[in-house]
Amino acid sequence: MQLTNRQIFQYHLATPSNVSSPIEIVKAKGIYIYSDSGQQYIDLVSGVSVSNVGHLHPKVVKAIKDQLGKYMHLMVYGKYIQSPQVQLTYKLVINLPEKLNSVYFVNSGSEAVEGALKLAKRITGRTGIISFNNAYHGSTHGALSVLGNEEMKNAYRPLLPDISFFNFNDNKVIDNITQSTACIIMEPIQTEAGIILPNLEWLQLIRKRCDETGTMLIFDEVQLGFGRSGKLFAYENFDVIPDILCLAKAMGSGMPLGAFISSSDNMDKLTHNPALGHITTFGGHPVSCAAALA
Ligand SMILES: Cc1ncc(COP(=O)(O)O)c(C=O)c1O
Repeated sequence: MQLTNRQIFQYHLATPSNVSSPIEIVKAKGIYIYSDSGQQYIDLVSGVSVSNVGHLHPKVVKAIKDQLGKYMHLMVYGKYIQSPQVQLTYKLVINLPEKLNSVYFVNSGSEAVEGALKLAKRITGRTGIISFNNAYHGSTHGALSVLGNEEMKNAYRPLLPDISFFNFNDNKVIDNITQSTACIIMEPIQTEAGIILPNLEWLQLIRKRCDETGTMLIFDEVQLGFGRSGKLFAYENFDVIPDILCLAKAMGSGMPLGAFISSSDNMDKLTHNPALGHITTFGGHPVSCAAALA
């Protein structure tokens, strides 16, 4: 029996929620997506903060096709020099401050968060983590641990230990950043929690307290990055530079790509004791990097 796409979706595709009558998409271009019934939709959801340059932007499509004529996956991450990867790295670092001069590519936002948390532990030798109520940072175990919504994570305990949660913009967090705190992870503007702007002074106090205690300030710009806050990166709105920056979503213009970025001194920690401190097979895929570069 020949099943329709709708039937396969319904009976055989595992999804994280019950979608009662999903639309079937046959094509997407610019701000539009088109269903099998010929209906045109304006894609206001934008793939959840991914399609910042629209669907199938001609420059992105050309870059992908050009790269496909050369090579796709060659080797696990970081062993060969691959032009799309290094050129994208350079493009990023010349648009970032000096202390964010080393880019580690991964495949997704959750992986960028995982890498950032691990890196903060290695740099500081500490375990304490601070996060915020209502924050969303991804669905893997580490990212879930720093997610500020008890209902979403309770069924998956035990999660990472030694994490405390505070309300966004609440001064209580400042005194709780101590010499046992490895990192504080936050979106400089909370997104999933409802587009909550930071109080500027509060954000600057967090930066100051992190400097005083040697705590890593991690900015999750997975949703905010690449122009969504009006600047290329959201931290530019506040003049507060993080120690580690997480990117993904719109970075690959529709291709899967993420990154965590810090200083080369910090990143060096991942190369020894133990070696191979963070590994990815597909991170920084050359086709995704070519799309991102375009
Ligand atoms: C702020 C933020 N961080 C991390 C993630 C996780 O990204 P991904 O779904 O690519 O793993 C998301 C996804 O929505 C996000 O909005």
